[in-house]
Amino acid sequence: MTTNPTRILVVDDDAAMREVLEMRLQEWGFDVCLASDGNQARELTQSYEPDIVISDVLMPGLSGLELLRFLKMARQAHPVILITVQASVDVAVEAMKQGAQDFLIKPLDYGKLKSTLECAKRDIRMRRGFRKLGARLEQGAGFREFIGTSKEMRQVYDFIKVVAKSDAPVLITGESGTGKELAARTLHELSPRSHGPFIAINSAAIPESLIETELFGHERGAFTGAVAARPGCFELADQGTLFLDEIAEMPLPVQAKLLRVLEDGRVRRVGSSEELRFNVRVLAATNLNPRDAVQKRTLREDLYFRLNIFTLTLPVLHHRREDIPLLAQHFIGKFNQRHQTAVVGLSSEALERLQKYSWPGNVRELKNVMERAVIVARKEWIDPAHLPPHIQSSAVEADPSIILPLGVTAAEAEKELILKTLMRTGNNKAEAARRLGVDVKTIRNKLKTYRLN
Ligand SMILES: Nc1ncnc2c1ncn2[C@@H]1O[C@H](COP(=O)(O)OP(=O)(O)OP(=O)(O)O)[C@@H](O)[C@H]1O
Ligand SMILES: [Mg+2]
Repeated sequence: MTTNPTRILVVDDDAAMREVLEMRLQEWGFDVCLASDGNQARELTQSYEPDIVISDVLMPGLSGLELLRFLKMARQAHPVILITVQASVDVAVEAMKQGAQDFLIKPLDYGKLKSTLECAKRDIRMRRGFRKLGARLEQGAGFREFIGTSKEMRQVYDFIKVVAKSDAPVLITGESGTGKELAARTLHELSPRSHGPFIAINSAAIPESLIETELFGHERGAFTGAVAARPGCFELADQGTLFLDEIAEMPLPVQAKLLRVLEDGRVRRVGSSEELRFNVRVLAATNLNPRDAVQKRTLREDLYFRLNIFTLTLPVLHHRREDIPLLAQHFIGKFNQRHQTAVVGLSSEALERLQKYSWPGNVRELKNVMERAVIVARKEWIDPAHLPPHIQSSAVEADPSIILPLGVTAAEAEKELILKTLMRTGNNKAEAARRLGVDVKTIRNKLKTYRLN
């Protein structure tokens, strides 16, 4: 690959110094332009457009520090390397504070200069890359709160735009962390019901015995402990949208009642004989394949058909790797604000690790990884060292097989398989269950018994 040589502006009032530097830099393959004082340099930055500036500090007229200040004020982000005879710590500290790339002392150590220039070149490359990303994010690299420009995501946006207008149920599927809840909210916000409430209920997070009353509400005294009457999600969502999350984890008897409510639009609170009518649009989500769930009898077939008027399937992150840089940069901006940090972006090595990783937890996992990285980086660039160990080593992922000696019991083999699969999915139980072709409850129960043993 041939690229234009990096352009360096050398500023020094000492003609001999300028000459030596010009010779060395040209030897190293740089394009060089010379200025004999700060004022001349200032003009040349307009016409020559250098990539890097190397400047003496003490010069007649505009000093090196003043030139640095001017360049930073003019938002010209090229790396500036300052050189001086005066081995003064104060000047060095001041220079770094004002954003100098580095500070070198005369007589010059050319080895050090060369490595400083290598760093500066790397910096320029990364800044260019991230300026492009930043510009794309500003122009809106997604839709509403969604980030991503891949074909897979654009299909999702098109689907949402069309289906939001209708009042029909939508079944949203996709692995954990792919944005199912975000899709549900977006569908609500773009619908004619956007002024009404959006109520979400997660069947996996509520004890089985309470799901029914959460959904339909209850009367006072309906059961022990029901000291006051309470409205259910259907009542709360009246004139709005009800989002039934993890629908396949809902107990089957409740699924039957839910179906009846969806069919005739009437709800009866637990312990009441009165029927109430509500105007609710239902969206449902599952991170399982709904057809598998029907086959395994964790999702009632009739309910599935009722909910599945439209299906929206969110793509897994590793099928749209092109969106990873945009998403990562988006989260950097978000977490910079939250944690008062000033991270600029990811080093190319760190980005490479993110691109190679399998992301079993999808966007949510990427979001968590970026929050951690922004906090631990404490500098402008996120390096591989700021990523969790299993992502650092993702480029050299070990062979995904397990070896079992003959003589282990079936139970021991099963345990090994479950634990290794969990490790590979970053402890994501739903994903591990999917890969193993079992119910997530099975995994939870197995883990419980392992803990007991
Ligand atoms: N394309 C995207 N762009 C920006 N943020 C996203 C995107 N997809 C998901 N997110 C964010 O990632 C996080 C996880 O998304 P969400 O909760 O919608 O996933 P989910 O599919 O419901 O996951 P689970 O199955 O684990 O409940 C949220 O903070 C969400 O805002
Ligand atoms: Mg969710």
